[in-house]
Amino acid sequence: MEKMRVGFIGAGKMASAVAQAILLTGRIRSTTPSSFEAKSPQDNLGRYHGFSHRKLLRSQTEQMGAHHPGGQLRLFRSQNHVESQSQTKQDTASHLRSPGIGSTSYARSTATYPKMKCWRSDGDVQPVNIFASAPSNRNLEKFQTLSCRTTHSNLEVLENCTFVFLATKPHVLPTVLEEIAPAVTPEHVVISMAAGVTLETLEEGLPAGTKVLRIIPNLPCVVQSGAIILSRGSCVGENEVDVLKKLLSPSGLCEEAPESYIDIHTGLSGSGVAYVYMFAEALAEGAVKMGMPGQLANKIAAQTLLGAAKMMLETGEHPAALRSAVCTPGGTTIHALHELEKGGLRATVMNAVEAATNRAREMGKR
Ligand SMILES: NC(=O)c1ccc[n+]([C@@H]2O[C@H](COP(=O)([O-])OP(=O)(O)OC[C@H]3O[C@@H](n4cnc5c(N)ncnc54)[C@H](OP(=O)(O)O)[C@@H]3O)[C@@H](O)[C@H]2O)c1
Repeated sequence: MEKMRVGFIGAGKMASAVAQAILLTGRIRSTTPSSFEAKSPQDNLGRYHGFSHRKLLRSQTEQMGAHHPGGQLRLFRSQNHVESQSQTKQDTASHLRSPGIGSTSYARSTATYPKMKCWRSDGDVQPVNIFASAPSNRNLEKFQTLSCRTTHSNLEVLENCTFVFLATKPHVLPTVLEEIAPAVTPEHVVISMAAGVTLETLEEGLPAGTKVLRIIPNLPCVVQSGAIILSRGSCVGENEVDVLKKLLSPSGLCEEAPESYIDIHTGLSGSGVAYVYMFAEALAEGAVKMGMPGQLANKIAAQTLLGAAKMMLETGEHPAALRSAVCTPGGTTIHALHELEKGGLRATVMNAVEAATNRAREMGKR
């Protein structure tokens, strides 16, 4: 079965967030460009350009809020996973030798387009099978650090990959579509992340029959806790959606929805992350005002949001029910909630979602 090759045209924040999530799941295998010789099983743990997956996992857990128990557990699980991979050096080595996998020369010399009759859809995408392009090296370095392949040529990404994410800013996308259209084949699955660029625009800009999807991820994809909505174009079937969902599931929640929900998702979740940060900041500053050191207050604010979110997801309860469970009659919480009501928190947040959704719609009309 052919290995899946995933491409990113545009290598900025969202592209690297999605790529990192893809790489941190499934099997974390060492991938070595042909010139790189692994000397020990440890060298095979994704070390390249002085980088180890351990470092990536550690830094991501730190980003997640330092030492909260969930982060430690996740790091532990991931490390165990990496450890188990070190026992499969032989397997990995033979894998790297197998035709068409992990060999730059194969990718460049065999076919103009990848032969992808069927894909491995178990989330097992190795860094060597991820390609990213961007005009400058500014963001490509992140991909190089992950041992992915990089190029300044968007067409090279298309030549080497079947699943191609378009991850440039929306205003750049028309130029990119024009550039890549002649190289897009029926084998390709093109997935745009660009806010406000409709499936209709994408389908019009690419050859008739192209399989096109839109996704709107959010930044927490980088810590595998994102929320992604995907919508399919008219030529996309169940197989592509299933494979894409499996590919993206490591990034967090991934739900298919009608395209009309995409702008709402931008207002709720894409932009929503920023509202939550603002709330977290205010929460912590309240504690600082009352005398708690800022660092501790930030950490506890983050953990409070994480815990509250987890309870919502794990119990399936309506947030109003969970909130009311915290309210002792005449107690601290109800006094605080009264203040939030006086400040119009709920109406303000609803207005924020509405404003961001409308803005996304406006951008889509341009
Ligand atoms: N950020 C979010 O939270 C978020 C959420 C949902 C959706 N999105 C969408 O995701 C997309 C990417 O956002 P981002 O925040 O990742 O943007 P970003 O960090 O600014 O990255 C944009 C990337 O596009 C590259 N680029 C520019 N012109 C190009 C061209 N002609 N060909 C190929 N690549 C080109 C840039 O190259 P250089 O590296 O050389 O600058 C950069 O790597 C946007 O369309 C946005 O609407 C973002």
